[in-house]
Amino acid sequence: MAKKIILDLDTGVDDALALAYALGSPELELIGVTGTYGNVLVGTGVANDLSLLELFGHPEVPVYPGLRHARARDGFEVLEISAFIHGGNGVGDVELPEAQREAEEKSAVDFLVESVREYGDDLVIVATGPSTNVAAAIEADPEFARNAHLVIMGGALTVPGNVSAWAEANINQDPEASDLMFRKAADVTMVGLDVTLQTLLTYEDTAKWRELGTRAGTLLADITDYYIKAYETTAPYLGGCGLHDPLAVGVAVDESLVQLLGINMKVDTEGETRGRTIGDEQRLSDERKTARVAVAVDADRFLGELMRRIGSVLQQAD
Ligand code: BDR
Ligand code: CA
Repeated sequence: MAKKIILDLDTGVDDALALAYALGSPELELIGVTGTYGNVLVGTGVANDLSLLELFGHPEVPVYPGLRHARARDGFEVLEISAFIHGGNGVGDVELPEAQREAEEKSAVDFLVESVREYGDDLVIVATGPSTNVAAAIEADPEFARNAHLVIMGGALTVPGNVSAWAEANINQDPEASDLMFRKAADVTMVGLDVTLQTLLTYEDTAKWRELGTRAGTLLADITDYYIKAYETTAPYLGGCGLHDPLAVGVAVDESLVQLLGINMKVDTEGETRGRTIGDEQRLSDERKTARVAVAVDADRFLGELMRRIGSVLQQAD
């Protein structure tokens, strides 16, 4: 039986790739997308999710709008660097056809809480934006922290951050929320920059999507090429764009793609290291580890899986 999955996305180019990866994975049943802010405003991200689901041939997947800003803030504005990397509209300034339907009335947080109550161990939540929705779900229902299986794209344990020397972008948006998640949730798998910056996509790869001759193939190639180009400026030494969010979905399907280190984690919320993901010194010797951090990845195997899974979605779409 396929494992149920919810994607919590701030869509975002690599969030779009994560969505395609999930839809192209027969091991998974995507029961909903919850929207968060981050690369874009929450409304823009939700509109992107609705358009992409239609483009990828899955208009049946519901989309639930999430919280609009971090818990310690009273608003949110898209950072200049986010717009540079993902485009002003989040999808590489490519114009996507507007979706024929609206988002659900139910909130992302309610949907997360209800789904964990209903499906328990049969459900995995993959969160590839700030931890704001997840932290709110933890606070809304004590059962959520005990029973949710979370895979997050975020953080950096063995390498520097990407918005500051310490902080990775998703954690940086809402460090208090990520800290609460690491301290309270019983099962978090962290897929951070340690591994995602080893998994790279190039123009040669996206050319294969364009060659499929489908509208979805062409548009996703255009969207991703914008992101690859941005990486040529921000991290030219990599030789491609980081496959952050799709790797988190890849790990949810098959965790043997990475090596996982069991460690109790926390997030620094004060001072110059604000946003740093690091082992919690007070729980270092606890026998029970509530987080597992990916510290090595089989990048070639993952790239093969990504091309095969996303390729199958783009081929079957219009
Ligand atoms: C993460 O930040 C966002 O910009 C990306 O979508 C990804 O989730 C990488 O640090
Ligand atoms: Ca993201």
